[in-house]
Amino acid sequence: MERRVLTLDEAALRRRTSIKWQLHDSDVLPLWVAEMDVAPAPAVVEEMARIAREGDFGYPVTGPYTEEVAALYDEWGAQVTPARARPVADVMAGVRAGLMAITGPDDPVYITVPVYPPFHAAVHEIGRRLVPVPLTSTGRLDPAALDAAFAEHGRGALLLANPHNPTGTVPTRGELSHVAVTAERHGVRIVSDEIHAPLVLPGAGFTPLLSLPEAQSGVTVFSAAKGWNLAGAKSGVIFGGSEASDAIRALPPGLEFSTSHLGVRLHTAALRGGRDWLADLVHDLDANRTLLAQLLTEHLPEIVWQPVEATYLAWLDCRRLELGSDPAVHFRDVARVALTPGPPFGAGGGFARLNFATSPALLTEAIERMARSIPARRE
Ligand SMILES: Cc1ncc(COP(=O)(O)O)c(C=O)c1O
Repeated sequence: MERRVLTLDEAALRRRTSIKWQLHDSDVLPLWVAEMDVAPAPAVVEEMARIAREGDFGYPVTGPYTEEVAALYDEWGAQVTPARARPVADVMAGVRAGLMAITGPDDPVYITVPVYPPFHAAVHEIGRRLVPVPLTSTGRLDPAALDAAFAEHGRGALLLANPHNPTGTVPTRGELSHVAVTAERHGVRIVSDEIHAPLVLPGAGFTPLLSLPEAQSGVTVFSAAKGWNLAGAKSGVIFGGSEASDAIRALPPGLEFSTSHLGVRLHTAALRGGRDWLADLVHDLDANRTLLAQLLTEHLPEIVWQPVEATYLAWLDCRRLELGSDPAVHFRDVARVALTPGPPFGAGGGFARLNFATSPALLTEAIERMARSIPARRE
């Protein structure tokens, strides 16, 4: 199937100066950090050119960004009222601020493992107690395990990635509601990181936490950074439910001053004029999801992978290959393919995360290299 935006070749990508293409030697194919090998959205390119041409590099006016985020959430069925929304430097700054606002020192913060490693670090950084709770074996939220953990450790906060990184699952409305009701019963409030929400692929539907009446004590953090590949132009928005005014009031007064004008402008342009581009991207990711499943079946049948419902991140169970607790080391050193190591996600021994937001040619080359690196296949 023809790709529309995941079309860049290796020579063009190697000219990039961001970390994905710079960290490793030039013979390594980088399928690790969550940056996409995607051609940029024309609306973003035009806004960037206008900013540079006009020397528009001052301090931000953040209202238009919040309004565009509110419009998107309105389409998704959740209300973002301006009085309950605040701009933040980036999603992780919003996550830390949200957790600090709704918990006290040493309170438990529950995370559902495996999960994005900075979630673990953020909880430690703000002086809260990390309580990892496993997802189910299919990478989904486990209400029974959460109920048991809440009962044992008590009031605090539950930090969710909705959709989930690294398993690429999207909680259904029923699952999210079940978890929200359970959390509420134990005095646990939810912080929902929804940075991957624009990347829900055909077959699944996104439920914003704050579209649930039973989750209104919760807080959401959103950014256009992942959906439109704008990690280098940082910005985000934090907003609370109708029963979270206290949390929004408790945010540090200077929070919004750390957001960047460039980030705010580019994110706003993406949300306003980048919807067709996003549809093309989702089309290409859907095609790559199918391609990856085929490539694994053909070349690396020992790897177990459940095709994702969202994101471009594949959580590969490599345990049957017996490459040790961190297979990414083998694939980097022997196959010359960089994946993200599994262990820092928690419950990730024997796993590695592969980023499939690249061209079909590079994805195919990577899987073929990985297959050739397995000793039994080399002769
Ligand atoms: C779940 C999740 N949250 C947050 C981030 C980082 O967002 P930011 O750079 O805006 O802090 C990522 C990046 O991959 C992510 O996957």
